[in-house]
Amino acid sequence: MSYYDIKNPALADEGKNRIEWASQTMPVLNQIKQRFEKEKPLKNLRLAACLHVTTETAFLMQTLKAGGAEVTLCASNPLSTQDDVAASLAIHDKMPVFAIKGEDDKTYYRHIQAVLELKPQITMDDGADLVSTIHSKHPELAASIIGGTEETTTGVIRLNQMAKEKVLKYPIVAVNDAQTKHFFDNRYGTGQSTLDGIIRATNRLIAGTTFVVAGYGWCGRGLAMRAHGAGANIIVTEINPLKAIEAIMDGFRVMTMIDAAPVGDFFCTVTGNKHVLSKKHFEKMKDGAIICNSGHFNIEIDIESLDKLSSAKRTIRPFVEEYKLRDGRRINLLAEGRLVNLAAAEGHPSSVMDMSFANQALCAEYMVRNASKLEKKVYPVPQDIDSKIAKLKLQSMKVEVDVLTPEQERYLSSWQEGT
Ligand code: ADE
Repeated sequence: MSYYDIKNPALADEGKNRIEWASQTMPVLNQIKQRFEKEKPLKNLRLAACLHVTTETAFLMQTLKAGGAEVTLCASNPLSTQDDVAASLAIHDKMPVFAIKGEDDKTYYRHIQAVLELKPQITMDDGADLVSTIHSKHPELAASIIGGTEETTTGVIRLNQMAKEKVLKYPIVAVNDAQTKHFFDNRYGTGQSTLDGIIRATNRLIAGTTFVVAGYGWCGRGLAMRAHGAGANIIVTEINPLKAIEAIMDGFRVMTMIDAAPVGDFFCTVTGNKHVLSKKHFEKMKDGAIICNSGHFNIEIDIESLDKLSSAKRTIRPFVEEYKLRDGRRINLLAEGRLVNLAAAEGHPSSVMDMSFANQALCAEYMVRNASKLEKKVYPVPQDIDSKIAKLKLQSMKVEVDVLTPEQERYLSSWQEGT
Protein backbone atom coordinates (compact mmCIF):
# COMPACT_ATOMS: atom_id res chain seq x y z
CA MET A 1 0.00 0.00 0.00
CA SER A 2 1.15 3.53 -0.78
CA TYR A 3 2.25 5.70 2.13
CA TYR A 4 -0.50 8.15 1.24
CA ASP A 5 -4.10 8.24 0.03
CA ILE A 6 -4.88 11.59 -1.56
CA LYS A 7 -6.98 12.84 -4.45
CA ASN A 8 -4.35 13.93 -6.93
CA PRO A 9 -0.56 14.19 -6.56
CA ALA A 10 -0.48 16.65 -9.47
CA LEU A 11 -1.98 19.29 -7.17
CA ALA A 12 1.17 19.31 -5.02
CA ASP A 13 2.76 22.50 -6.39
CA GLU A 14 -0.44 24.49 -5.98
CA GLY A 15 -0.69 23.27 -2.40
CA LYS A 16 2.93 24.16 -1.69
CA ASN A 17 2.39 27.78 -2.70
CA ARG A 18 -0.77 28.07 -0.63
CA ILE A 19 0.93 26.58 2.44
CA GLU A 20 3.72 29.13 2.07
CA TRP A 21 1.14 31.91 1.74
CA ALA A 22 -0.57 30.82 4.98
CA SER A 23 2.73 30.48 6.84
CA GLN A 24 3.53 34.13 6.08
CA THR A 25 0.88 35.20 8.61
CA MET A 26 1.74 32.61 11.26
CA PRO A 27 4.61 34.38 13.04
CA VAL A 28 4.30 32.57 16.37
CA LEU A 29 4.38 29.15 14.77
CA ASN A 30 7.30 30.32 12.61
CA GLN A 31 9.29 31.15 15.74
CA ILE A 32 8.44 27.80 17.29
CA LYS A 33 9.47 26.04 14.08
CA GLN A 34 12.86 27.78 14.09
CA ARG A 35 13.47 26.74 17.70
CA PHE A 36 12.27 23.19 17.02
CA GLU A 37 14.71 22.95 14.10
CA LYS A 38 17.59 23.67 16.48
CA GLU A 39 16.47 21.87 19.63
CA LYS A 40 14.58 18.87 18.18
CA PRO A 41 12.36 18.46 21.26
CA LEU A 42 10.22 15.84 19.50
CA LYS A 43 13.12 13.75 18.25
CA ASN A 44 12.03 10.24 17.19
CA LEU A 45 8.54 10.81 18.52
CA ARG A 46 5.71 9.14 16.59
CA LEU A 47 2.81 11.55 16.26
CA ALA A 48 -0.55 10.85 14.57
CA ALA A 49 -2.80 13.80 13.78
CA CYS A 50 -6.47 13.83 12.83
CA LEU A 51 -7.06 17.47 11.85
CA HIS A 52 -8.73 19.45 9.09
CA VAL A 53 -6.23 19.16 6.25
CA THR A 54 -5.74 22.84 5.45
CA THR A 55 -2.79 25.09 4.65
CA GLU A 56 -2.50 26.01 8.34
CA THR A 57 -2.50 22.38 9.43
CA ALA A 58 0.19 21.68 6.86
CA PHE A 59 2.41 24.31 8.44
CA LEU A 60 1.79 22.78 11.87
CA MET A 61 2.79 19.37 10.51
CA GLN A 62 5.97 20.86 9.03
CA THR A 63 6.71 22.44 12.42
CA LEU A 64 6.29 19.14 14.27
CA LYS A 65 8.48 17.41 11.72
CA ALA A 66 11.09 20.15 12.14
CA GLY A 67 11.02 19.31 15.85
CA GLY A 68 12.11 15.77 15.02
CA ALA A 69 8.74 14.01 15.09
CA GLU A 70 7.68 11.33 12.67
CA VAL A 71 4.22 12.55 11.70
CA THR A 72 1.22 11.15 9.90
CA LEU A 73 -2.03 12.93 9.15
CA CYS A 74 -5.64 12.09 8.35
CA ALA A 75 -8.72 14.28 7.95
CA SER A 76 -10.93 15.13 10.92
CA ASN A 77 -13.92 15.67 8.66
CA PRO A 78 -14.84 14.07 5.32
CA LEU A 79 -15.48 17.44 3.63
CA SER A 80 -12.79 19.74 5.04
CA THR A 81 -9.71 18.46 3.20
CA GLN A 82 -7.91 20.77 0.80
CA ASP A 83 -6.73 18.26 -1.78
CA ASP A 84 -3.81 20.37 -2.99
CA VAL A 85 -2.52 20.65 0.57
CA ALA A 86 -2.77 16.89 1.11
CA ALA A 87 -0.88 16.42 -2.17
CA SER A 88 1.87 18.85 -1.21
CA LEU A 89 2.45 17.19 2.16
CA ALA A 90 2.56 13.75 0.57
CA ILE A 91 4.74 14.66 -2.40
CA HIS A 92 6.97 17.52 -1.24
CA ASP A 93 7.22 16.68 2.48
CA LYS A 94 7.05 12.91 1.98
CA MET A 95 4.52 12.77 4.77
CA PRO A 96 2.00 9.93 5.11
CA VAL A 97 -1.31 11.71 4.50
CA PHE A 98 -4.69 10.04 4.26
CA ALA A 99 -7.35 12.55 3.27
CA ILE A 100 -9.59 13.15 0.28
CA LYS A 101 -12.22 15.87 0.14
CA GLY A 102 -15.66 14.25 -0.10
CA GLU A 103 -14.52 10.82 1.13
CA ASP A 104 -17.34 8.59 2.35
CA ASP A 105 -17.62 7.57 6.01
CA LYS A 106 -15.99 4.19 5.33
CA THR A 107 -12.94 5.84 3.77
CA TYR A 108 -12.87 8.42 6.56
CA TYR A 109 -12.51 5.67 9.18
CA ARG A 110 -10.13 3.67 6.99
CA HIS A 111 -7.90 6.76 6.95
CA ILE A 112 -8.03 6.98 10.74
CA GLN A 113 -6.95 3.32 10.87
CA ALA A 114 -4.11 4.13 8.48
CA VAL A 115 -2.55 6.77 10.74
CA LEU A 116 -2.80 4.41 13.69
CA GLU A 117 -0.45 2.01 11.92
CA LEU A 118 2.33 4.35 13.04
CA LYS A 119 1.61 3.25 16.63
CA PRO A 120 1.63 6.87 17.79
CA GLN A 121 3.08 8.12 21.06
CA ILE A 122 1.19 11.40 20.74
CA THR A 123 -2.24 11.89 19.20
CA MET A 124 -3.50 15.23 17.95
CA ASP A 125 -7.24 15.40 17.45
CA ASP A 126 -9.91 17.79 16.26
CA GLY A 127 -13.19 16.31 17.45
CA ALA A 128 -11.74 13.27 19.28
CA ASP A 129 -12.36 10.69 16.53
CA LEU A 130 -8.77 9.45 16.80
CA VAL A 131 -8.95 9.00 20.56
CA SER A 132 -12.35 7.40 20.32
CA THR A 133 -11.18 4.95 17.61
CA ILE A 134 -8.17 4.00 19.75
CA HIS A 135 -10.40 3.41 22.76
CA SER A 136 -13.08 1.45 20.93
CA LYS A 137 -11.05 -0.49 18.33
CA HIS A 138 -7.38 -0.44 19.31
CA PRO A 139 -7.11 -0.18 23.10
CA GLU A 140 -3.79 -2.05 22.90
CA LEU A 141 -2.21 1.10 21.41
CA ALA A 142 -2.92 3.17 24.53
CA ALA A 143 -0.06 1.64 26.54
CA SER A 144 2.61 3.33 24.43
CA ILE A 145 0.79 6.66 24.10
CA ILE A 146 2.28 9.50 26.14
CA GLY A 147 -0.69 11.77 25.60
CA GLY A 148 -2.92 13.59 23.20
CA THR A 149 -4.11 17.08 22.41
CA GLU A 150 -7.61 18.18 21.46
CA GLU A 151 -8.36 21.17 19.29
CA THR A 152 -12.08 21.77 19.58
CA THR A 153 -14.97 22.30 22.01
CA THR A 154 -16.86 19.20 20.83
CA GLY A 155 -13.78 17.01 21.29
CA VAL A 156 -13.10 18.40 24.77
CA ILE A 157 -16.70 17.64 25.78
CA ARG A 158 -16.34 14.03 24.59
CA LEU A 159 -12.99 13.61 26.35
CA ASN A 160 -14.21 15.13 29.62
CA GLN A 161 -17.04 12.62 29.52
CA MET A 162 -14.54 9.78 29.02
CA ALA A 163 -12.48 11.05 31.97
CA LYS A 164 -15.63 11.34 34.10
CA GLU A 165 -16.58 7.75 33.27
CA LYS A 166 -12.97 6.76 34.07
CA VAL A 167 -12.45 5.13 30.68
CA LEU A 168 -9.83 7.57 29.38
CA LYS A 169 -6.66 5.57 28.83
CA TYR A 170 -4.10 8.37 28.46
CA PRO A 171 -3.65 12.07 29.32
CA ILE A 172 -5.08 14.80 27.11
CA VAL A 173 -4.38 18.52 26.94
CA ALA A 174 -7.48 20.52 26.02
CA VAL A 175 -5.95 22.99 23.57
CA ASN A 176 -9.39 24.43 22.84
CA ASP A 177 -9.63 25.79 26.36
CA ALA A 178 -6.50 27.96 26.12
CA GLN A 179 -7.45 31.63 26.04
CA THR A 180 -5.16 32.18 23.07
CA LYS A 181 -7.23 29.54 21.28
CA HIS A 182 -10.94 29.99 21.91
CA PHE A 183 -10.96 33.78 22.40
CA PHE A 184 -9.68 34.19 18.86
CA ASP A 185 -10.08 31.02 16.79
CA ASN A 186 -13.62 30.20 17.95
CA ARG A 187 -14.83 33.80 17.85
CA TYR A 188 -13.04 35.69 15.06
CA GLY A 189 -12.02 32.60 13.09
CA THR A 190 -15.46 30.98 13.06
CA GLY A 191 -17.13 34.36 12.61
CA GLN A 192 -15.26 35.21 9.44
CA SER A 193 -14.89 31.74 7.92
CA THR A 194 -18.53 30.77 8.45
CA LEU A 195 -19.78 33.88 6.75
CA ASP A 196 -17.17 33.29 4.05
CA GLY A 197 -18.47 29.74 3.50
CA ILE A 198 -22.09 30.88 3.31
CA ILE A 199 -21.24 33.63 0.84
CA ARG A 200 -19.00 31.42 -1.33
CA ALA A 201 -21.69 28.72 -1.45
CA THR A 202 -24.65 31.01 -2.15
CA ASN A 203 -23.32 34.34 -3.47
CA ARG A 204 -26.32 35.92 -1.73
CA LEU A 205 -26.36 39.40 -0.21
CA ILE A 206 -26.35 39.27 3.58
CA ALA A 207 -27.39 42.92 4.09
CA GLY A 208 -31.04 43.34 5.01
CA THR A 209 -31.66 39.64 5.63
CA THR A 210 -32.70 37.95 8.84
CA PHE A 211 -29.88 35.73 10.02
CA VAL A 212 -30.56 33.18 12.74
CA VAL A 213 -27.59 32.04 14.84
CA ALA A 214 -28.29 28.94 16.93
CA GLY A 215 -26.02 28.97 19.97
CA TYR A 216 -24.23 31.92 21.55
CA GLY A 217 -20.98 30.32 22.64
CA TRP A 218 -17.68 31.71 21.36
CA CYS A 219 -18.43 30.61 17.79
CA GLY A 220 -22.00 31.93 17.82
CA ARG A 221 -20.85 35.28 19.20
CA GLY A 222 -18.30 35.62 16.41
CA LEU A 223 -20.77 34.66 13.72
CA ALA A 224 -23.50 36.99 15.01
CA MET A 225 -20.99 39.85 15.18
CA ARG A 226 -19.77 39.33 11.61
CA ALA A 227 -23.23 38.73 10.07
CA HIS A 228 -24.42 41.88 11.84
CA GLY A 229 -21.42 43.71 10.39
CA ALA A 230 -22.52 42.59 6.93
CA GLY A 231 -25.90 44.21 7.51
CA ALA A 232 -28.08 41.31 8.66
CA ASN A 233 -30.72 41.47 11.36
CA ILE A 234 -29.60 38.89 13.86
CA ILE A 235 -31.76 36.50 15.83
CA VAL A 236 -30.02 34.36 18.42
CA THR A 237 -31.49 31.14 19.82
CA GLU A 238 -30.12 29.76 23.08
CA ILE A 239 -30.85 27.31 25.87
CA ASN A 240 -28.68 29.11 28.43
CA PRO A 241 -30.33 32.14 30.13
CA LEU A 242 -26.96 33.82 30.75
CA LYS A 243 -25.87 33.61 27.14
CA ALA A 244 -29.32 34.75 26.07
CA ILE A 245 -28.96 37.91 28.20
CA GLU A 246 -25.52 38.46 26.74
CA ALA A 247 -26.92 38.25 23.20
CA ILE A 248 -29.69 40.71 24.09
CA MET A 249 -27.18 43.17 25.55
CA ASP A 250 -25.00 42.76 22.47
CA GLY A 251 -28.00 44.17 20.62
CA PHE A 252 -29.54 41.01 19.15
CA ARG A 253 -33.06 39.59 19.31
CA VAL A 254 -33.40 36.32 21.18
CA MET A 255 -36.26 33.88 20.67
CA THR A 256 -36.98 30.17 20.40
CA MET A 257 -36.14 28.38 17.18
CA ILE A 258 -39.80 27.65 16.55
CA ASP A 259 -40.49 31.42 16.56
CA ALA A 260 -37.40 32.17 14.47
CA ALA A 261 -38.21 29.50 11.87
CA PRO A 262 -40.82 31.48 9.88
CA VAL A 263 -38.79 34.72 9.82
CA GLY A 264 -35.21 33.62 9.09
CA ASP A 265 -33.57 33.87 5.68
CA PHE A 266 -30.34 32.20 6.86
CA PHE A 267 -30.00 29.70 9.72
CA CYS A 268 -26.64 28.59 11.03
CA THR A 269 -26.19 26.14 13.90
CA VAL A 270 -23.15 26.44 16.17
CA THR A 271 -24.34 24.62 19.28
CA GLY A 272 -22.47 21.29 19.33
CA ASN A 273 -25.81 19.59 19.93
CA LYS A 274 -28.14 17.35 17.98
CA HIS A 275 -31.17 18.23 15.83
CA VAL A 276 -31.22 21.91 16.65
CA LEU A 277 -33.02 22.36 13.34
CA SER A 278 -35.65 19.65 12.97
CA LYS A 279 -38.94 18.72 11.30
CA LYS A 280 -41.05 21.17 13.28
CA HIS A 281 -38.77 24.02 12.18
CA PHE A 282 -38.60 22.97 8.51
CA GLU A 283 -42.42 22.92 8.48
CA LYS A 284 -42.48 26.63 9.33
CA MET A 285 -39.57 27.97 7.27
CA LYS A 286 -40.00 30.41 4.38
CA ASP A 287 -39.66 29.29 0.79
CA GLY A 288 -35.96 29.61 -0.09
CA ALA A 289 -34.61 29.51 3.46
CA ILE A 290 -30.90 28.70 3.63
CA ILE A 291 -29.76 26.38 6.40
CA CYS A 292 -26.25 25.35 7.41
CA ASN A 293 -24.06 24.24 10.27
CA SER A 294 -20.70 25.40 11.57
CA GLY A 295 -20.51 23.10 14.58
CA HIS A 296 -18.06 20.19 14.50
CA PHE A 297 -20.38 17.31 13.58
CA ASN A 298 -23.16 17.07 11.00
CA ILE A 299 -25.77 16.26 13.61
CA GLU A 300 -27.11 19.73 14.34
CA ILE A 301 -29.53 19.64 11.40
CA ASP A 302 -31.92 16.69 11.21
CA ILE A 303 -31.29 15.96 7.53
CA GLU A 304 -33.19 12.68 7.62
CA SER A 305 -36.41 14.52 8.53
CA LEU A 306 -35.75 17.11 5.84
CA ASP A 307 -35.37 14.27 3.36
CA LYS A 308 -38.64 12.70 4.49
CA LEU A 309 -40.52 16.00 4.12
CA SER A 310 -39.22 16.43 0.58
CA SER A 311 -40.49 15.19 -2.74
CA ALA A 312 -37.30 16.04 -4.65
CA LYS A 313 -33.75 17.13 -4.10
CA ARG A 314 -31.08 18.54 -6.42
CA THR A 315 -27.66 20.16 -6.23
CA ILE A 316 -28.45 23.61 -7.51
CA ARG A 317 -24.92 24.98 -7.00
CA PRO A 318 -21.80 23.41 -5.52
CA PHE A 319 -22.43 22.96 -1.79
CA VAL A 320 -26.13 23.93 -2.14
CA GLU A 321 -28.69 21.13 -1.98
CA GLU A 322 -32.20 22.31 -2.75
CA TYR A 323 -34.90 20.26 -1.01
CA LYS A 324 -38.36 20.62 -2.55
CA LEU A 325 -40.96 20.09 0.14
CA ARG A 326 -44.33 18.48 -0.65
CA ASP A 327 -46.12 21.83 -0.17
CA GLY A 328 -43.88 23.42 -2.82
CA ARG A 329 -41.50 25.35 -0.50
CA ARG A 330 -37.76 24.98 -1.02
CA ILE A 331 -35.16 24.70 1.73
CA ASN A 332 -31.51 24.98 0.77
CA LEU A 333 -29.02 22.96 2.78
CA LEU A 334 -25.36 23.99 2.53
CA ALA A 335 -22.42 21.57 2.57
CA GLU A 336 -24.51 18.53 3.54
CA GLY A 337 -24.88 19.97 7.02
CA ARG A 338 -21.13 19.66 7.63
CA LEU A 339 -18.94 22.54 8.82
CA VAL A 340 -19.80 25.16 6.20
CA ASN A 341 -16.67 27.20 6.92
CA LEU A 342 -14.33 24.34 6.05
CA ALA A 343 -16.45 22.59 3.42
CA ALA A 344 -17.46 25.61 1.33
CA ALA A 345 -14.56 27.92 2.30
CA GLU A 346 -11.06 27.38 3.68
CA GLY A 347 -11.62 27.40 7.43
CA HIS A 348 -10.23 30.02 9.76
CA PRO A 349 -7.61 32.36 8.37
CA SER A 350 -4.00 31.63 9.18
CA SER A 351 -3.39 34.50 11.59
CA VAL A 352 -5.82 33.03 14.14
CA MET A 353 -4.75 29.45 13.48
CA ASP A 354 -1.25 30.72 14.32
CA MET A 355 -2.19 30.89 18.00
CA SER A 356 -4.26 27.68 18.00
CA PHE A 357 -1.49 25.68 16.40
CA ALA A 358 1.24 27.31 18.50
CA ASN A 359 -0.71 25.81 21.42
CA GLN A 360 -0.75 22.42 19.67
CA ALA A 361 3.01 22.45 19.04
CA LEU A 362 3.93 23.64 22.54
CA CYS A 363 1.52 21.24 24.21
CA ALA A 364 2.99 18.29 22.29
CA GLU A 365 6.41 19.40 23.56
CA TYR A 366 5.01 19.83 27.09
CA MET A 367 3.57 16.30 27.08
CA VAL A 368 6.88 14.81 25.99
CA ARG A 369 8.78 16.74 28.69
CA ASN A 370 6.28 15.84 31.41
CA ALA A 371 5.40 12.32 30.29
CA SER A 372 6.17 10.69 33.62
CA LYS A 373 4.01 13.10 35.64
CA LEU A 374 0.82 13.07 33.61
CA GLU A 375 -2.22 11.06 34.64
CA LYS A 376 -5.17 9.76 32.63
CA LYS A 377 -6.99 13.08 32.85
CA VAL A 378 -7.97 16.04 30.70
CA TYR A 379 -5.54 18.87 31.47
CA PRO A 380 -5.82 22.57 30.71
CA VAL A 381 -3.07 24.18 28.63
CA PRO A 382 -0.39 25.30 31.11
CA GLN A 383 -0.79 29.01 31.89
CA ASP A 384 2.79 29.81 30.92
CA ILE A 385 2.24 28.42 27.42
CA ASP A 386 -0.95 30.45 26.98
CA SER A 387 0.73 33.66 28.23
CA LYS A 388 3.83 33.12 26.12
CA ILE A 389 1.76 32.70 22.95
CA ALA A 390 -0.18 35.91 23.73
CA LYS A 391 3.09 37.81 24.24
CA LEU A 392 4.66 36.49 21.05
CA LYS A 393 1.54 37.25 19.03
CA LEU A 394 1.39 40.80 20.32
CA GLN A 395 5.10 41.25 19.64
CA SER A 396 4.60 40.03 16.09
CA MET A 397 1.95 42.74 15.71
CA LYS A 398 4.53 45.26 16.89
CA VAL A 399 2.21 46.37 19.66
CA GLU A 400 3.56 47.30 23.07
CA VAL A 401 1.55 47.30 26.28
CA ASP A 402 2.15 49.09 29.56
CA VAL A 403 3.83 47.33 32.47
CA LEU A 404 2.83 47.65 36.12
CA THR A 405 4.87 50.09 38.17
CA PRO A 406 6.24 48.71 41.48
CA GLU A 407 3.62 50.87 43.24
CA GLN A 408 0.85 49.28 41.17
CA GLU A 409 2.17 45.78 41.82
CA ARG A 410 2.21 46.47 45.56
CA TYR A 411 -1.33 47.87 45.38
CA LEU A 412 -2.65 44.78 43.58
CA SER A 413 -1.10 42.45 46.11
CA SER A 414 -2.44 44.29 49.15
CA TRP A 415 -5.92 44.62 50.65
CA GLN A 416 -5.44 47.35 53.27
CA GLU A 417 -5.68 50.35 50.97
CA GLY A 418 -9.25 51.67 50.33
CA THR A 419 -10.67 55.15 49.75
N1 ADE B 1 -10.46 24.68 12.01
C1 ADE B 1 -11.03 25.80 11.58
N2 ADE B 1 -10.29 26.40 10.64
C2 ADE B 1 -9.19 25.64 10.46
C3 ADE B 1 -8.06 25.75 9.61
N3 ADE B 1 -7.90 26.76 8.79
N4 ADE B 1 -7.15 24.76 9.69
C4 ADE B 1 -7.32 23.72 10.54
N5 ADE B 1 -8.36 23.58 11.35
C5 ADE B 1 -9.30 24.53 11.32
